[in-house]
Amino acid sequence: MSSIDFTDRVAVVTGAGGGLGRTYALELARRGCKVVVNDPGVSRDGTGGDSAPADQVVAEIRAAGGEAVASHDGVETEAGGQAIVATAMDTWGRLDVLIHNAGILRDRSFAKMGAEDWKAVLAVHLDGGFNVCNPAFKVMKAAGYGRILMTTSVSGLFGNFGQASYGAAKMGLVGLMNVLTIEGKKYDIKVNGLSPTAHTRMTGDLKREGLPDVSRDTGHVTAAAVYMVSEACQDTGVIIHAGHGFYGRIQVAHNDGVFLGREPTTVENFAENWDRITEFDNVETKPTLQAYMGLVYEKSAR
Ligand SMILES: NC(=O)c1ccc[n+]([C@@H]2O[C@H](COP(=O)([O-])OP(=O)(O)OC[C@H]3O[C@@H](n4cnc5c(N)ncnc54)[C@H](O)[C@@H]3O)[C@@H](O)[C@H]2O)c1
Repeated sequence: MSSIDFTDRVAVVTGAGGGLGRTYALELARRGCKVVVNDPGVSRDGTGGDSAPADQVVAEIRAAGGEAVASHDGVETEAGGQAIVATAMDTWGRLDVLIHNAGILRDRSFAKMGAEDWKAVLAVHLDGGFNVCNPAFKVMKAAGYGRILMTTSVSGLFGNFGQASYGAAKMGLVGLMNVLTIEGKKYDIKVNGLSPTAHTRMTGDLKREGLPDVSRDTGHVTAAAVYMVSEACQDTGVIIHAGHGFYGRIQVAHNDGVFLGREPTTVENFAENWDRITEFDNVETKPTLQAYMGLVYEKSAR
């Protein structure tokens, strides 16, 4: 395969002052990409702020001969998202790549979760997805090229105790990815999802039994992220799980379904058919809304 090169490309990486985002920014820059290193330098729960993390990553990139500029705006506001994209446009006049990686955690079991924590987590991950993708998508649409990577998580894709806000936000980004995948097709904007696992500030003190030692190396995730925002990646709407040297695909699937008759069925009949309705032996692994609704209409027309 030809080398994955980003010469003349411009990228925004949100939350790039530390953890996974930092390694994405460094690797993109090493491959010739000009990078907006976005990070307000908040703590793990989103409080506080410090310009040093983003500035340090910029200094690291420049010291290695690359080009980068810092952005200390937060993705949680519309103005912040616009300012992040404007930094790329004002500095280099283009934007080819967006990795929405910024994230915070406020884990609590649901009964103990207050609205403030819920809203703060959704604001960074999900609203942040809108705030930064919306101006970026407009630029990419006008240019007829773009690569967007959403950071999702197994906590949302499968569920995880204590992570209602985080899981909901991460699954919300999958919905955003699915729609932007469709809307971006005409303009060569590929939108994919990445579900990482790595030992970072976010996960460092979480109890993770059986986690392999290699989890400390974020490079396992970086390779996937950088490929998925390269021109070489021609797929769109794909969610990759990456971590510890493992790589795999995760996606929504549906079964064949059951037609229960022309008249609205009774609750009892629905209950009696529950096992048939929920069986998952015959699974469609490449679903689209159109194909699924086609199946629904086809079965209903029988
Ligand atoms: N590490 C894992 O195992 C893991 C697993 C699943 C998903 N993720 C996701 O990967 C991404 C990176 O996480 P990480 O593990 O590197 O954690 P991290 O805490 O090291 O990095 C997150 C970065 O996001 C920044 N950030 C927070 N709020 C922001 C805001 N409003 N605007 C811009 N930046 C903001 C933080 O300052 C921080 O530098 C996150 O989206 C996280 O949810 C990580």
